[in-house]
Amino acid sequence: MTARVTDWGLAGLVAALLVTGALTLFAGSPGAAWIIAVHDACGIAIALLVIVKLRRVWPRLVRASHGTHRRAAGIGAVLAVVGCVAAGFLWSGGVAVAPAGYSLLSWHDGLGAILTIAVAIHMVVRAKRLRRRDLAGRRQFLTATGLAACAVLAWRLQRPVETLLALKGARRRFTGSYEAGSFAGNAFPSTSWVADNPAVIDPASYRLRVEGRVAHRLAISLAELAAADELVATLDCTGGFYSTQRWRGVRLSRLLDLAGADPAARHVTVGSVTGYRWSFGIEEARSLLLATHVTGAPLSHDHGAPVRLVAPGARGFQWVKWVTHIEVRRDPDLTAPLSTVWSSFG
Ligand code: HEM
Repeated sequence: MTARVTDWGLAGLVAALLVTGALTLFAGSPGAAWIIAVHDACGIAIALLVIVKLRRVWPRLVRASHGTHRRAAGIGAVLAVVGCVAAGFLWSGGVAVAPAGYSLLSWHDGLGAILTIAVAIHMVVRAKRLRRRDLAGRRQFLTATGLAACAVLAWRLQRPVETLLALKGARRRFTGSYEAGSFAGNAFPSTSWVADNPAVIDPASYRLRVEGRVAHRLAISLAELAAADELVATLDCTGGFYSTQRWRGVRLSRLLDLAGADPAARHVTVGSVTGYRWSFGIEEARSLLLATHVTGAPLSHDHGAPVRLVAPGARGFQWVKWVTHIEVRRDPDLTAPLSTVWSSFG
């Protein structure tokens, strides 16, 4: 494999890993499992290609006569890629260590982002164009195909081997998350986006507002929110755990009907007391639950009491906590994702 093909291959894989990695953050339903499969196979491919690359550049990395800046940049890049790849494999293998208090998945995500920026700069400064012979040679083609085949085969074998060795990784969900506190009420981990941390909400003065494109605006007290609907659903946090629970509360469809949602409405935004909000298409919104109870227990404050959203198939950060308002809309709420950043600083 020529040096240029190796380098462009590495850059292409880093780009593919960043894109699929970012998409894993939204992949909560089994239909999206292919995204994580592609990510894993590309992860194995990059690990193999890094070995090819290191065999070529190792002498230059260790030789003191080579320019100091170049050596430092090279060593930094190697550390970032090896660190990111190692954290990915250790996490998926079920190793539960948390260096400096951060899970291996957090290290993996952080190093992945740093690595992508570093590779982008490196390519702008030093990339050499691919030549005809880089692409046309039979050897190039066979090596690239062989590498891709090894990556796919290793990915196929990964789970069976983990099962055979009774590794914890065999029990991870297709998203890479591990089970925590299922069907045990509030006894599962609680995480909040960035730093959302509101004061406890007084149940007596709590009102859920339903507004926007509705015939009648509503302000519903907790007592009026009959907890009549139940749903078994899995909360899958991008932080790396999942918990399956029996959630009890009221279907959002009931509230939309009660308020007389405009038939032309297409979107529903669910908002928190913190200002955090997330938006759903109206069909999906109708299937969601506003939960007041989790497997028999009233929701605790850190899990979003008095009311949190249960959105099966969506990732945990979309399950809005401390819900205080619902807005029925005709147009999508395009700025809702930004609230994930500023709500924490409000
Ligand atoms: C920043 C965005 C990224 C996110 C959110 C992300 C997320 C993930 C997740 C959730 C897993 C676990 C999947 C599983 O358990 O099957 C994983 C595994 C992995 N990722 Fe990433 N990743 C990102 C970027 C990267 C980059 C840039 C690389 C490589 C340079 C990479 C290489 C890997 C590898 C090697 C694995 C292990 C694959 C396996 O066990 O088969 N990731 N990643």
